[in-house]
Amino acid sequence: MDPRLEANRLNWDERAGLHATDRTGSYRIADVLAGRSSLHAIEAAEIGDVRGLDLVHLQCHIGLDTISLAHFGARATGLDFSPKAIEAARDFARRAGRPDVRFVEGDVYAAPDRPGETYDRVFTGWGALNWLPDIERWAAVVARLLRPGGYLYLIESHPITCGALADRDGVPTPTYPWRDPPEKPVASDMTHTYTGDARPLVNTRNYEWTHPISEVVTALLGAGLRLEMLREHDRVAWKAYPTLVEDGVDLWRFPAGGPSLPLAYSLRARRPG
Ligand SMILES: C[S@@+](CC[C@H](N)C(=O)[O-])C[C@H]1O[C@@H](n2cnc3c(N)ncnc32)[C@H](O)[C@@H]1O
Repeated sequence: MDPRLEANRLNWDERAGLHATDRTGSYRIADVLAGRSSLHAIEAAEIGDVRGLDLVHLQCHIGLDTISLAHFGARATGLDFSPKAIEAARDFARRAGRPDVRFVEGDVYAAPDRPGETYDRVFTGWGALNWLPDIERWAAVVARLLRPGGYLYLIESHPITCGALADRDGVPTPTYPWRDPPEKPVASDMTHTYTGDARPLVNTRNYEWTHPISEVVTALLGAGLRLEMLREHDRVAWKAYPTLVEDGVDLWRFPAGGPSLPLAYSLRARRPG
């Protein structure tokens, strides 16, 4: 495996253990075990009716969104390269009474190598694309996973406000590159995971890539998909800036009078049928 992805995998293995025993309420474990959803308001409203559809959730982490999509009626498969995340996801599916939800351990880039596996829906959620070095290769994977007529639904943090800019004294300030080529990721060491859990990480090293929306869209078009919807949102799933305020129960936004900037985007891209 690419040594940068191997470092990320070790880091995610460790985080999966912390998130599966979440002490901060960041993951809606109890909701999902009780048959409710961990999806945030944006994707819950936009994913569309999944009842009776075959759906694959790429980079599913500990599987809570995958199980939620099964609660909504999908025949759901989750894929992640972290064995610890997959182990936790299978345990949650069992405890949620959803042994029908399938979890597969594997690299996103190898997902289409599984013979005969195509889907009506590909779902990818918050905090996934920044772990992938090559977005054109990812788009080709998505196109190969989709059946004719099926679509990708994606919800992601905004690559400018949550990638290139960072908080400096309350002001979103250019800090990181607005795009990172495959050979030049941003390397960082995180001593703790983002949930606020006090337990320290041992495998601290991360490699991340910011992918501009234009490159994501161009890659999907280049893979033969048709763009049907692209939206930017003024809310995000976590407190990406210290000044953000909680909006209802599950999204964060700049306060009134604060910066007027997008914090997330979503899109739907269909394989022509
Ligand atoms: C922030 S989590 C995504 C959370 C997800 N949106 C959810 O539903 O909870 C990122 C996930 O991507 C996975 N990941 C990172 N790179 C990957 C790769 N190359 N192949 C498969 N999974 C990968 C990590 O193991 C981790 O579980």
